[in-house]
Amino acid sequence: MADRPHAEPESILVAGASGGIAHALLEEVAARWPGAQLLTTSREQELETDIAHRHCTVELSEADSVEAVRTFLQRQGPAPSWVVHCCGILHDDSHGPEKSLAQCQDDWLLHSMRINVLTHLHLAQAVAPLLKKHRPFLWASLSAKVGSIEDNGLGGWYSYRMSKAALNMLVRNLSIEWGRKVNECCVVAVHPGTTDTALSGPFQENIREDKLFSPATSAGRIVDVLQQLSRDKSGRLLFWDGGVLPW
Ligand SMILES: NC(=O)c1ccc[n+]([C@@H]2O[C@H](COP(=O)([O-])OP(=O)(O)OC[C@H]3O[C@@H](n4cnc5c(N)ncnc54)[C@H](OP(=O)(O)O)[C@@H]3O)[C@@H](O)[C@H]2O)c1
Repeated sequence: MADRPHAEPESILVAGASGGIAHALLEEVAARWPGAQLLTTSREQELETDIAHRHCTVELSEADSVEAVRTFLQRQGPAPSWVVHCCGILHDDSHGPEKSLAQCQDDWLLHSMRINVLTHLHLAQAVAPLLKKHRPFLWASLSAKVGSIEDNGLGGWYSYRMSKAALNMLVRNLSIEWGRKVNECCVVAVHPGTTDTALSGPFQENIREDKLFSPATSAGRIVDVLQQLSRDKSGRLLFWDGGVLPW
């Protein structure tokens, strides 16, 4: 237990739960821990699943979501043992990742920041008052390797890269602040690997088949990594196999 303080979560919150990886994560944790309390947030009114869960419909990019989610969580009991935050955006119907500086538009960068950073900040603000010194707590934000500044050798994808880099800094800060507050606290950013979801859909053409993973495969690997975590990995950007990526 001392080496793996997060191995048996009593309750798990999956945020952005309508997404491809989030949905698979919900199935994965429900199968591994049938007795765990499962909590979800999404913009959707309800989720297409038979898995028993308590749901909060919320737009996490809005500031008033902090109070709404906090009230929801307080009604469920103590802080969740795990929070896995899946919100993220790479493209929409009229915007895609920029190949060059000339393609950058203010509104898309700001929107990317709202979804890729603010949704995570607001959920953290909702959860923070519920944390207890002696209750182990694990937070994982799904981020992306392309948000690593050191790893960036290709360029492009300005808004996604910049917003994920900002998310990574948020995660690092949270790991420091919450690490002082909670004895067994682990806060990480996780790169799930290229996964076959709506987010990656338009960009799968040049990806080798063995490098494109199903949501179930990615979810299983993410849960494997989270189960093994301890304080020494807190404040890190992790690859899907648990290895540490440079910030
Ligand atoms: N798929 C990949 O290859 C890949 C690779 C690297 C990193 N990632 C990261 O993994 C995470 C999950 O991605 P995914 O592949 O599962 O993508 P997805 O199926 O498109 O799901 C995206 C998630 O983001 C939320 N979201 C999308 N647009 C939003 C908006 N306008 N406002 C608020 N929330 C919004 C949705 O939450 P609601 O339930 O609230 O709608 C949904 O959970 C993302 O953070 C992504 O950056 C994915």
